Amino acid sequence: MCGIFVYVGTRNGIRIAIDGLKKVEYRGYDSAGIAFIEKGKIVCKKAVGKLKNLEEKLGDETATTVIAHTRWATHGKPTEENAHPILDAKGSVAVIHNGIIENYMQLREELEREGVKFRTETDTEVISNLIATVYKGDLLKAVQEMMPLIKGAWAIAVIHKDHPDECIVAKNSAPLVLGIGVGETFAASDPNALVHHTREVIYLSDGEVARIRPQGAELFDAEHLPISKQVEQIKHSVEEFSKGQFEHYTLKEIYEQPQAMRNAMLSRFFEDYGTVALDDLFLKPAELLAVKRIVIVAAGTSLHAGMIARYMLEEISRIPTSIEIASEFRYRNPIVEDGTLVIAISQSGETADTIAAVRELKAKGATIIALCNVQGTTLTRDADYTFFLRAGPEIGVCSTKAFTSQLTVLALFSLMMARLRHMSKLEGKEFLIALEAVPEQIETVLAQAMAIQHLADKYAHLNDFFFIGRRYMYPTCLEAALKLKEISYINANGYAAGELKHGPIALLNPHCPTFALCADQVTYDKIISNVLEAKARHSPIIALAFNDDERLHTIANDLILIPKTRDEFAPILASVVCQLFAYFCAKKRGADIDQPRNLAKSVTVE
Ligand code: AGP
Repeated sequence: MCGIFVYVGTRNGIRIAIDGLKKVEYRGYDSAGIAFIEKGKIVCKKAVGKLKNLEEKLGDETATTVIAHTRWATHGKPTEENAHPILDAKGSVAVIHNGIIENYMQLREELEREGVKFRTETDTEVISNLIATVYKGDLLKAVQEMMPLIKGAWAIAVIHKDHPDECIVAKNSAPLVLGIGVGETFAASDPNALVHHTREVIYLSDGEVARIRPQGAELFDAEHLPISKQVEQIKHSVEEFSKGQFEHYTLKEIYEQPQAMRNAMLSRFFEDYGTVALDDLFLKPAELLAVKRIVIVAAGTSLHAGMIARYMLEEISRIPTSIEIASEFRYRNPIVEDGTLVIAISQSGETADTIAAVRELKAKGATIIALCNVQGTTLTRDADYTFFLRAGPEIGVCSTKAFTSQLTVLALFSLMMARLRHMSKLEGKEFLIALEAVPEQIETVLAQAMAIQHLADKYAHLNDFFFIGRRYMYPTCLEAALKLKEISYINANGYAAGELKHGPIALLNPHCPTFALCADQVTYDKIISNVLEAKARHSPIIALAFNDDERLHTIANDLILIPKTRDEFAPILASVVCQLFAYFCAKKRGADIDQPRNLAKSVTVE
């Protein structure tokens, strides 16, 4: 869960590497560092905290081979010593590393017995020392020799003081992509970091190694044999990676949701037939009809999307569906019966817990469909089929447009399964017409941003919130609470409204508002009762309801209205309101919105 950027070329790579790090900083930002070779010695510059601290430490150094790293601490505190690059004991080898070396304690003990002195608390230090131990003049060979010794998920880039024009990169279960330029070669954890320099990329697979030099990359498989791989083109435009006129990526991404949703739907349905054709799903109708049970695995916001999908899959497709927290599921002994279809949801496609759960399920014979936003990721390679979200790069650490795109694709999938079973063409058509209207309805919600900002200004000083809702609004509450916690550091609980009276109601008081998501027609009367219960405990009530609501204006202290839609799609509109509310609360509190403390965008560790 760190960011890697490598430059090997003829220009001054230090500035290029710092700019590259800015594009992968979302992956971790508790410390950063770079290394390069100067007069046969490795020079290392590191700083704790954000990248700007490292920038301040840099002078007018120049270098044509640079490895750069931004860290999310796993082994050892975020200190300068533990920041990468990590050198071997003699200072000959420098390594940057994303991931975890599971057997590092054992390797460290062995190396220490051989007299190697360790200076950091990191697992990475075993890599640099192992390479230095086996090095006999050929850096590529030394890295290849070291690789079978380490266990875990990792991507690394290595330089040696005696090889000023090359860098060796390798990976296992952590992302790494090469960028092929003219007279210069790059490597990064994310292709987004390369788009300013080249659109030509090569995705490394697990066990592969590359020697990168200014003139290009030589690739080798796990058996050390030379291989050639397809050069792919990055499709996204440079603008997609910039904030444009917005103050934060998060705000830009909230505003991109109407378009992201249109992209997610594009060419994937036939309104006249009331049905769906999902590209990349090569299962025959008979195979889809044989699905008896769906298991959804995911984490965080993606988990909440899965929880909403469960209501849809059971209600409209009539398929028993369970939703599983990936980090818990991997340690169960799941029962996979014939006819089990797994949907793994992950914006990044690199979430370690979700990938581990998928591997467990796959080993037991389940068919895996991935819902993913990023192409070429571990999850998409592990899955049998992938539906891409097409939301465009999501750079803000808190997930916004990926979430609503996930809900869109899941709605299409549910409709497809329903139409294959019992749903009529007319019902399918009605479903699609309502779904097609949602992007424009999101625009109506976005037009209320100023009112939502005023609301946030009114409540942002408070430290505790409850979000309550029923049915589709329940997981929507979990997501709303996560957003508020994540970016504004306000303690927020998402609750099924009916559960409030079973304990948490004890916490309500005039300083603990209840944000009631009431946009569910089936349970409307019930949630009104729950809102009244909260009001009776002097909790200020912020209510969200459909725009034809007639009751809440007399009950709620503040009321936000969203356009009327089917209950299945109300989570999308309600979530946009809650994203804006969290965003403006965070802004009012002066929080670091795009890169909240302690977090990272893709969680590639357990
Ligand atoms: C959402 O705002 C979070 N940053 C986080 O919960 C995220 O959704 C989770 O880590 C899962 O990520 P994924 O979708 O990339 O697998």
